[in-house]
Amino acid sequence: MSSITIDGHRIDVLFSETEIAKRITVLAAEVAARKPHRLLVVPVLKGSFIFAADLIRAMHHAGLSPEVDFMILASYRSAQKSSGQVDVLRDIESAVQDRDVLLVDDILESGRTLAFAKDLITARGAKSVMSCVLLDKPGHLAANIKADFRGFDCPDLFVVGYGMDMAHQFRELPFVGHVVTV
Ligand code: IMP
Ligand code: MG
Repeated sequence: MSSITIDGHRIDVLFSETEIAKRITVLAAEVAARKPHRLLVVPVLKGSFIFAADLIRAMHHAGLSPEVDFMILASYRSAQKSSGQVDVLRDIESAVQDRDVLLVDDILESGRTLAFAKDLITARGAKSVMSCVLLDKPGHLAANIKADFRGFDCPDLFVVGYGMDMAHQFRELPFVGHVVTV
C-alpha cells in the first residue's frame, strides 16, 4: 500500500485516482441505464464536491444532460442524543416536481444526512429520489436508507481526500486515504 506524509500526518492510500476514475465511469453508465426523467443532480456539500464534479462529467460522456443544483447540510452527532440533527445551510433553488432527482454524497455512514435530504425532496413532489455515494461505510446505519448507486465499500476507518476532510484539511488529495498518524 502506498502512503504519503503531509505536515507529519501519514496517509495510506485506500482508493487510488485511477481506481476512482474507473468506478465513476461505471456509476455514470448505471445512472444512464435508468433513463432518468428530467434529471436533477444534487451534490450534498461539502465533502461530495470533487466526486460530484467527476461524476457529472462522466454522465455527460454516458449521454446524460442533467441539471445540477447544490445543497449544503450540516449534521450533528452527539453522544447524548439518540437521533442526530440535520440542518439545511443552503437549499436547492430548483423545483423538483415530476423530476428524477439524484443525490450525490461522499460517504454513507449513519445515513441520517441522506435520509433527511431524501425525505425533504420527496415531500416536494419529486418523481423519484435516488442516491449515489462514493463510499459505503458499513455498521453504523441508523436511518432507513440504502444508496441506489455505490462506488466502494469503505473500511471502518476515518478517511480523507477526494473532497473529504479532517477539520477542512486534505480535501485536495486526488485519492481516498486513511489518516494513520493524526
Ligand atoms: P451520515 O451518513 O449522516 O452519518 O453522514 C455521513 C457524513 O459524515 C459524510 O457525508 C461525511 O461528511 C461525514 N463522514 C463520515 N465518515 C467520514 C470519514 O471517515 N471522513 C470524513 N468524513 C466522514
Ligand atoms: Mg458530507
